[in-house]
Amino acid sequence: MTFQITKAVIPAAGLGTRFLPATKAMPKEMLPVVDKPAIQYVVEEAVAAGLHDVLMITGRNKNALENHFDRVGELEATLEKKGDTDKLRKVNYSTELADMHYVRQGDPLGLGHAVLRAKMHVGREPFAVLLGDDLIDERDQLLTCMIEEQGKRNASIVALMEVDPEVAHMYGVATFEETDDPNVVRITGLVEKPAKGTAPSNLAIIGRYILRPEVFDVLEHTQPGKGGEIQLTDALEKMAAAPEWTGGVYGFIFRGRRYDTGDRLDYIKAIVQLAVDRDDLGPQLRPWLKEFASDLD
Ligand code: G1P
Repeated sequence: MTFQITKAVIPAAGLGTRFLPATKAMPKEMLPVVDKPAIQYVVEEAVAAGLHDVLMITGRNKNALENHFDRVGELEATLEKKGDTDKLRKVNYSTELADMHYVRQGDPLGLGHAVLRAKMHVGREPFAVLLGDDLIDERDQLLTCMIEEQGKRNASIVALMEVDPEVAHMYGVATFEETDDPNVVRITGLVEKPAKGTAPSNLAIIGRYILRPEVFDVLEHTQPGKGGEIQLTDALEKMAAAPEWTGGVYGFIFRGRRYDTGDRLDYIKAIVQLAVDRDDLGPQLRPWLKEFASDLD
């Protein structure tokens, strides 16, 4: 039986310590990328792929996330009175974007544990997981292709990207076999953040997954791994090894534009890359950037 995938799970319970002190009292997911909080890009991406039911896995001090996707009566009334329809549209857009749900993670036991918290909401259907640190350019297709692939193969699908071997230790890395489709590989093994120089390939997991519900059964029995945390990568490796009841795991190779907002340097790069392409900012930013760069030694 094939299901239409409608649910997206977005883990957002991390402490964001790499951005302290900015994240002392504010969730890292609310950091602006140009003029939108990072999390809004991710919800927009889910909705653009037809996933209107969004479950966010949050934690303490994450109220700003719920507020961002909720009405804000006073502000709306003020903007309405002023007749500022443009700003009012921006405010209402995130409220009306998706059917939002929230569950708290409780103990911060890792990404696998966060995903397991979605079990009740998701039920026995395939669903998507989107990690907030990875932004995918809206001009490039990824989720839609992964959903299509899931339907074709009735397996779980992870997004993979070729990375420089120098940085492979920061990702889950795949061993794989080729398929008849140059964009799709069959995953035979996965290792979460391999020690430097030991990565089995240069295909790394980026934060997009379409998972079969069997992942919950596997996660319930997955022991803490790297960093003492329950790792989604470890559960997927077990699923890859048991295709007879999990459907196996395939990788979809993404060759488009991805912006990493997970650390400070990449976050700055993401803002610049997105801003230069914007019609409202690009024409002024581009010449300024060139001049600024030519003054650097
Ligand atoms: C997580 C996953 C890792 C994946 C990465 C992609 O790690 O555990 O397998 O490669 O996201 O961004 P994190 O970066 O949250 O530590």
